[in-house]
Order: sequence, then C-alpha cells, then structure tokens
Amino acid sequence: MSVISTAIDPNLLTGIYDDAAVYRLKDDIAIIVTIDYFTPIVKEAYMYGQIAAANALSDVYAMGGRPVLALNVVCFPISVLGLTFLEEVLRGGADKLVEAGVTLAGGHSVIDPQEIKYGLSVVGVVNPNDMLTKGNLKKGDKIILTKALGTGIVNNALKGGLLDEETEKEVTESMALLNMKASRAAVEHGVRACTDVTGFGLAGHLMEMIEASPGMGARIYSDALPLFSRVEEFSKMGLIPPGTRRNRKFRGENVVFKDHVPDWKKWVLFDAQTSGGLLLSVGPEGSDDLLKRLLKDGHARASVIGEVIEDPNGHIEVV
Ligand code: CO
Ligand code: CO
Ligand code: CO
Repeated sequence: MSVISTAIDPNLLTGIYDDAAVYRLKDDIAIIVTIDYFTPIVKEAYMYGQIAAANALSDVYAMGGRPVLALNVVCFPISVLGLTFLEEVLRGGADKLVEAGVTLAGGHSVIDPQEIKYGLSVVGVVNPNDMLTKGNLKKGDKIILTKALGTGIVNNALKGGLLDEETEKEVTESMALLNMKASRAAVEHGVRACTDVTGFGLAGHLMEMIEASPGMGARIYSDALPLFSRVEEFSKMGLIPPGTRRNRKFRGENVVFKDHVPDWKKWVLFDAQTSGGLLLSVGPEGSDDLLKRLLKDGHARASVIGEVIEDPNGHIEVV
C-alpha cells in the first residue's frame, strides 16, 4: 500500500486503500495487480514460503478475483542463511501456487545484508461487475470472518518459546490456508463487501470498510469471535506484539466496548494478523447458506461475528 498515487486514469477502478489495484481492460474484464512480502513468521522455511504465497494471493481473492500469474520477490542474506533454506522457501511458495492454479512466471532477487524477505507480486483477473470492494456495507448485513483470530499474539508466544506443537500447527495451517474457496463462495453468494484481515487487525480492516461505506457502522458479538487455542491465556499474560499495540493506539477511538468485554479480548480485535481470513458482508437472507458453504469448503472456523448497523455509525460497537 502506498499513499502516493497518480490516479487519473478512469480505467483504474480502485483507490489507494483497496487490497489490490484493479484496472479495466474491457467492460467485462479487468486485471488485478498486487505485491506482498515479509520476514519469516515461522522457523520452517517451506512453511514460511507457503504462508507468504497464501498471503500474497489473498489480496486478489479479497477483490473477488482469480489469480493467474505470479512473480517471486526475494531479498536474501546469502552470508547468513544457506541456499538450501532459500530453495525450501521457494518450493513452499511454488507448491501453494500450484494449489491455487497460478503460474509462476519469474521473479527478482537482491542480496539483503540482514534478513530474508519473501513474497510475490500477483496478477489476477476479474469481471468488474463481480468485483468485491471494501465499501458497500448495507444496514442489516451479516458480517462473516472466515479464519480464527490471534496469529499475532500466538506467534509472539512462539518467539518466546512458550508455544506447544499442537497450537503451533493449528495457527500455521490457518496462515497457509488459501482464501480461494472463501472468495469464490463470496462471489457466488452475492457478498456485497469484502477485505482480508492482515496487519491492521480485525478492527482496523473493519474500520476501512466502514469508512468506505458512509453512514454505516458495525456491531461485533464478542462471544462469536473465532479464536485460536491459548489466545486467551497468552493475551492475559500480556504477550501483545508491538504491531497489535500500535493498532490499538491508532484505532482505539473507533471501537466502543460494552463493559462486560474483558481487556484480554479487546486486544484480540486489534491483533495484527498474518494471512488472516476474509471479512465479508452479506445480506441477512443469504448468510446461513454462505456460512454452510464456507464450512463445507474447509473454512472450519468461519463464523458470523456481527452485523452492519446505521445507528451509531462511523465506528465499531463490541457487545
Ligand atoms: Co488486503
Ligand atoms: Co496486502
Ligand atoms: Co529483475
């Protein structure tokens, strides 16, 4: 995401705060272009590659599109890590692309003096009429989240050596899960608005949707939030990562909590996610069918977590 833009071309269908750039070629076809890369969040190279690829593809899925081509982006500290490590990262990324039906068409690498960074630039296609954007929330819509929350807090516990293997596996598999099927289900079930939950956390990304939908607000049911195992325990221990703290500082004023919501859970709403789920807004009549489809398609933690409201608007109310 960049705050610098030269958007004067009428075929550019997105603004600078959308998940990816969408450019109309003809009335019924547009290309989607995005880039995403980051430093390792897990120790294992192959898994890191898979997660980075799932994360990079996610911004295409968040637009309701189909990714078709990808380019590797690599910053590699050759004097710190062996080439075998890099091969494993790239193999993880390539395997995820195969799963997504996306062709790897090249890439670019530079020597980095300190730390590996890996990700992809992805090109997708979409019919502009089917495109999902952050705006377009409607009063009464149900809000669905397709993955559990808490990757920031749990990965922080992992860094501190406090994590058990089972929880590590649970979170790692979730981060590596493609948002592909969730995106298809959303388009086919008439979802009105969509984004993916990543670094700004649930509250931050939901606020982007609210700001893109004038007059609308959201009510979140705190008891309905899907959480990874041990998030409560780690949050109570104060294992809050810096990104999550920044998010709460930045968006704290936009979120109104009812008195009964405990502080450990407030942190979860701001927790910076890596390769999180899609956040969808769907008409109330279609929400049951969509949820069933998501569960059937392997999004086992998909949940209705709230609703779009008009009063009060402009912020998130957590009940
Ligand atoms: Co995004
Ligand atoms: Co992104
Ligand atoms: Co080059």
